[in-house]
Amino acid sequence: MIGQDGTTRPVVTCCEPLVDNWRPPPPAVSIDSGDLHLWRIRLATTLTDRQGEILTEAELRRAAKLRFVADRRRFIARRAALRQVLSRYLQVPADTIAFDVNAHGKPSIKAPPAHVETLSFNASSCDDLALIVIALNRRIGVDVERINLPPDDVEVARQFLSEKELEEFAGLQGTTRAQRFFAMWTGKEAVLKALGTGLSLSPRLIELAVDDDGCPAISSLEGTLHNTKRWSLHSVSPETGYLGAIAIEGHRLNIHGWTI
Ligand SMILES: CC(C)(COP(=O)(O)OP(=O)(O)OC[C@H]1O[C@@H](n2cnc3c(N)ncnc32)[C@H](O)[C@@H]1OP(=O)(O)O)[C@@H](O)C(=O)NCCC(=O)NCCS
Repeated sequence: MIGQDGTTRPVVTCCEPLVDNWRPPPPAVSIDSGDLHLWRIRLATTLTDRQGEILTEAELRRAAKLRFVADRRRFIARRAALRQVLSRYLQVPADTIAFDVNAHGKPSIKAPPAHVETLSFNASSCDDLALIVIALNRRIGVDVERINLPPDDVEVARQFLSEKELEEFAGLQGTTRAQRFFAMWTGKEAVLKALGTGLSLSPRLIELAVDDDGCPAISSLEGTLHNTKRWSLHSVSPETGYLGAIAIEGHRLNIHGWTI
């Protein structure tokens, strides 16, 4: 990666352990510019019959298009949870929050109340588990996946790993192999979500280096040369059998993990 000053350097080098200390949220949540808030939501336990009432018609139409009842219920639960979490920060009712989406589908808050600084958020879910990340004035992305290696893992990995990463992955065995697959998957997807590009930017252009503890760090962001800001990538184990990653602009953030 060539920086604006002409030097060659990794854009992202940081891989700090995430505070794995999940607590129920306090009644009033506030966030400072150096904070990263991570919310873990167990959708099955937060689900209520009235959650649909805080969604918009468009959200309910999206839910109705899902084929399976379980998927519809999860969709409603995670969108309601996102609105309820954001309403704590914005101090407005959950059903009044409006979203913009960029050309690749990344949502942001439309016309936030004047007293609120730019609140960045991103969300991911897998099965009954949802993660929401919140920060101020910085781009942020999150992904969570169930650790369940596909039988054709090398073929799938070929879609998102660079040649060098693939070669290294193919030589791994057992749990290390599964951990590596999902550390790379979630790490790259978190970066793509932070950038807001989704898969319009090939994950093969993002190179991650994984350390002995299985913790990924970004070593190269080809194709995004305009971006010389430093990022951090955090690995998170929100629940047994699941792996998540958070990509965020900046370092040494104060991380708080809330669970509901
Ligand atoms: C957004 C995307 C990157 C992730 O989708 P996903 O893994 O299916 O779903 P997640 O639960 O992690 O995230 C969905 C949420 O991300 C957000 N999102 C959508 N598009 C986004 C984008 N371009 N950037 C950031 N966030 C986005 C939305 O909040 C969305 O929630 P919603 O469905 O309620 O609107 C999607 O573009 C995609 O296509 N994923 C395929 C993943 C893949 O093949 N990865 C290969 C390894 S890198």
